[in-house]
Amino acid sequence: MQENWQNLTRFTKRPVLKITMKSLPILLLLLAFSAAYPLNPATTAGKLSMDRVQKYLEDFYNLKNNMKQSVRSKNSSPVVAKIQEMQKFLGLQVTGNLDDDTMDMMKKPRCGFPDVSSFAFFAYKPKWRKNEVTYRIVNYTSDMKKSDIDAAIERALKVWSDVTPLTFTRLREGEADIMISFAVQAHGDFLPFDGPGGVLGHAYPPGPNINGDVHLDDDEQWTEDKNGANLFLVAAHEFGHSLGLLHSSDTSALMYPIYNTNTDLSKFHLSQDDIDGIQTLYGYPLDSSDDPLPPTKSTEQKKPEENPETCDPNTSFDAVSTLRGEMLFFKDGYFWRKSINSVEPVRYSLSAFWPSLPSGFDAAYELTTKDMVFVFKESKFWAVRGNDIQPGYPRDIYTLGFPRTVEKIDAAFFHKEKQKTYFFVNDDYWSYDEKRQSMDHGYPRKIATDFPGVGQKIDAAFESFGFFYFFSGSSQTEFDPNAKMVTRTLKSNSWFNC
Ligand SMILES: *[C@@H]1O[C@H](CO)[C@@H](O)[C@H](O)[C@H]1NC(C)=O
Ligand SMILES: *[C@@H]1O[C@H](CO)[C@@H](O)[C@H](O)[C@H]1NC(C)=O
Ligand SMILES: [Zn+2]
Ligand SMILES: [Zn+2]
Repeated sequence: MQENWQNLTRFTKRPVLKITMKSLPILLLLLAFSAAYPLNPATTAGKLSMDRVQKYLEDFYNLKNNMKQSVRSKNSSPVVAKIQEMQKFLGLQVTGNLDDDTMDMMKKPRCGFPDVSSFAFFAYKPKWRKNEVTYRIVNYTSDMKKSDIDAAIERALKVWSDVTPLTFTRLREGEADIMISFAVQAHGDFLPFDGPGGVLGHAYPPGPNINGDVHLDDDEQWTEDKNGANLFLVAAHEFGHSLGLLHSSDTSALMYPIYNTNTDLSKFHLSQDDIDGIQTLYGYPLDSSDDPLPPTKSTEQKKPEENPETCDPNTSFDAVSTLRGEMLFFKDGYFWRKSINSVEPVRYSLSAFWPSLPSGFDAAYELTTKDMVFVFKESKFWAVRGNDIQPGYPRDIYTLGFPRTVEKIDAAFFHKEKQKTYFFVNDDYWSYDEKRQSMDHGYPRKIATDFPGVGQKIDAAFESFGFFYFFSGSSQTEFDPNAKMVTRTLKSNSWFNC
């Protein structure tokens, strides 16, 4: 398989994108871009900077990701191809030019979920594997009365429960499937909001943790009517994503990505496209059993392929690491990549990415401060950045300060807040200071003392959003380092939407 490591940067944090911007292919792209589209000050094009255009195509049309492929095709520059793709999706005339209509479209308020991504081709669509879905309004915007916000959210959910067997139950505390919050700018995920206008909100596809959640940009003026961003309308669209729908290019669909100011709120109804989409996933409302016909688009629906390897409840991993905002799950000669925004993990063979590395890692961790991943096998370890193995590796684990009695590392992760890497070996762990580049004194300590409840033998571990996740066989524990306790016990494959 021709796989390009650039794909890994698709949903990464901005700082990583900045690093990527320095790379040669991107510079070439920018040159091609400015040569093909000299700014004409007489057109409205001047009002939208080329940076904004580039970002729009990156954010919503996966520009960088497909770049290599597009560059190869002789007749079209990648940017022209992306502009055409956008024009086609949004129902504009397909010219490949940044004409006024196209520029105007790019300025319109919209959803932050991409229209096209490399993950759109999954054989199986994510969905809740239950009909009783819970939601929680985590906090409120001050733009509207709380009771009006509650009512708008409830109405927005009813749009979907009316046409499916789904029910939505509100929780006042704890973790609900769909956590709804208002936030501005950077807000704890890898998709910061952009101030007033532009992106109004985004949502994550069904699944555990952040999946299913809806974030609304509190830099918008949220309103009950259409004077600002209508909360009901935007929330109803985002809930479509929370339930597993992607964007539709049907301009009459609620799942069309652009905020539709022409919607008549008093007569709001889903389009047939929305209804077909959601019923393909969940079927009909339970009380409409008098309608025996299958959903109209049922031929399009591929049955969820229960991936026997990842969805086996006995699934275990050799090592787990983050990488530029994604997660990598290693097992023997393979690994699964799961982007935070992607619905399903994709499996790759290790040798396709790192032909010179052995298979069956014991441990792996990302040193985010250096944009490197360290992988361990027996007494050796390697540093990789993207596809490249760093020079000078493999090294001996003893150079890190382990005693000779340690023959292999079970698991490791980098604790960003403390700038320490923890290494787990049998029932002990070590703390390595990444700044000083040396092992901390007073180690090893017992895992059971400092991480009570995480189990005897750790196979893999990583940190995410301030929680530590420990894998032991087919089970996984979520550990809150502040409370010093296990907060949840999960299956090891809980990130896989099984
Ligand atoms: C609401 O909660 C989210 C998620 O916890 C947080 O990022 C955001 O800052 C909060 N917003 C307000 C207005 O408190
Ligand atoms: C999981 O492992 C147990 C014990 O090894 C075995 O009995 C069981 O059949 C396995 N389940 C599956 C689905 O493979
Ligand atoms: Zn959307
Ligand atoms: Zn967010």
